[in-house]
Amino acid sequence: MATTEGLTIRPFEAGDRAAVIALWRACGLVVPHNDPETDIDRAAGRANSDVLVGVTADGRVAASVMVGHDGHRGWLYYVAVAADARGRGHGRAIVAAAEAWLRAREVPKAQLLIRDTNAAVRDFYTGLGWDESPRIVMERRL
Ligand SMILES: CC(C)(COP(=O)(O)OP(=O)(O)OC[C@H]1O[C@@H](n2cnc3c(N)ncnc32)[C@H](O)[C@@H]1OP(=O)(O)O)[C@@H](O)C(=O)NCCC(=O)NCCS
Repeated sequence: MATTEGLTIRPFEAGDRAAVIALWRACGLVVPHNDPETDIDRAAGRANSDVLVGVTADGRVAASVMVGHDGHRGWLYYVAVAADARGRGHGRAIVAAAEAWLRAREVPKAQLLIRDTNAAVRDFYTGLGWDESPRIVMERRL
């Protein structure tokens, strides 16, 4: 658990579910082909993945990140800060918490995907020291 700028970052607990999903929806991170309930069930509290939440002093879930790894690469998903809590370093803190989670598991590299409809957020990550990855990402629905 870490506290930065009044935000306490800790692993997801069962009682966070509704607030986390509401945060993701409010941040525009839920798309029709991803069920947030299933995403939480698959990731939270697992050996290779977790959902971290940032809780304000008044007990509100104001930030989140889902983090996981396959031993080689770590991935961040659902990076979110509530609109009325932005600009206070919570985004930086929740990304740092995910990086720390991966470092603690000796994962050498972190990656994340930005939807092309959200390309402007790239500057947030470059400001945190992330580099744009010169890769073509392929996918298939299974
Ligand atoms: C992106 C997001 C997480 C940033 O959260 P935040 O709490 O406002 O970020 P911080 O206050 O920690 O900002 C850290 C730095 O990034 C900068 N920054 C924040 N948002 C930015 C943006 N959209 N573009 C460029 N820079 C940005 C801040 O100015 C700050 O810079 P500074 O340290 O030099 O002052 C938040 O805007 C959000 O939840 N957006 C909607 C969901 C989303 O798009 N998630 C990413 C999916 S890939």
